Amino acid sequence: MLSSNFDLAAHEKNFNTLPPQIPLHLNTALNLSSLFTEHLICISLTLATDPQAAAGRMAQNRVDRGACIYNPSTLCIYDAYVLGFNMSFVWRCATGAILLPFFCENFSRRHLDMGVATGFFPSAALAQQRPTTLPAQEITLLDLSENSLGNAKARIAADNQTTPVSIIAVHGDVLAGVPPELKGSKFDSISMFNLLHCIPVPQETKNKAFELAADVLSDDGVLVGSSVLGIRYHAWWNPLGWVTMVLFNLVLGAFGNWGDEPAVFEQGLRKEFGDVKTWIVGSMFLFQARKPRRA
Ligand SMILES: C[S@@+](CC[C@H](N)C(=O)[O-])C[C@H]1O[C@@H](n2cnc3c(N)ncnc32)[C@H](O)[C@@H]1O
Repeated sequence: MLSSNFDLAAHEKNFNTLPPQIPLHLNTALNLSSLFTEHLICISLTLATDPQAAAGRMAQNRVDRGACIYNPSTLCIYDAYVLGFNMSFVWRCATGAILLPFFCENFSRRHLDMGVATGFFPSAALAQQRPTTLPAQEITLLDLSENSLGNAKARIAADNQTTPVSIIAVHGDVLAGVPPELKGSKFDSISMFNLLHCIPVPQETKNKAFELAADVLSDDGVLVGSSVLGIRYHAWWNPLGWVTMVLFNLVLGAFGNWGDEPAVFEQGLRKEFGDVKTWIVGSMFLFQARKPRRA
């Protein structure tokens, strides 16, 4: 069953922020410097494992740029680096305290995950479900990267060997309308976590993903998601945020969120859904939408 409403306030005590008054004793300083070193190593590894990462990337099709960074090497470090380090220390919206509970409370037996990477969220949500025989669990994965689809599908199956689950992988661009494989399908829950900031197109164009979601969401279903906001939303006292924004937008080209604004996403959501809730946690935009509008 879907929960009625995610109560973000209930998780507020868990918001992972680095306040300006960080206690600067030796232990903290050492921990921060080793995490920063790890961060730089991860970025170098990403560059080294993807020879097209610098100049060549700029010449590629813009939409593809958000997906082509996902290769076996980057997917191998993805959970620790993106969902662990970045979510806690760079974007200040911790996976364990905020994103995973948000995902799990909006996960149904018939779920579509848009933009999957390693499949961490659907896999963890499935593992938390109470065992039941009926109805069977269905998870559909939609992504532009074959690497991400293969990785997520294998991971969900491997992590949930005792749970009967049907996993369907669909290769497609979330901005290109409903893929032929999903025509006529309806899902009771849809997730779009950490996807929109990866698509290097004007922000208004990203809102086409909400159109697709509304088309395939059941009348009483729910869409949830998160996205890193533009440079204005990164605290002055957290240089990790600016460094990562510069690297991923201007060097790697894997992000396209430099100017992303909550109001533009909100407008796109309200156009497609009758009931929209949004939050900002750290530098992340979180949203939940219900009541898809039908033409
Ligand atoms: C940062 S990962 C997010 C993965 C996962 N939802 C999470 O939160 O860990 C972004 C994923 O979106 C995919 N992606 C990027 N642009 C896309 C597009 N236009 N259409 C479909 N998938 C896309 C990438 O291939 C990648 O798997």
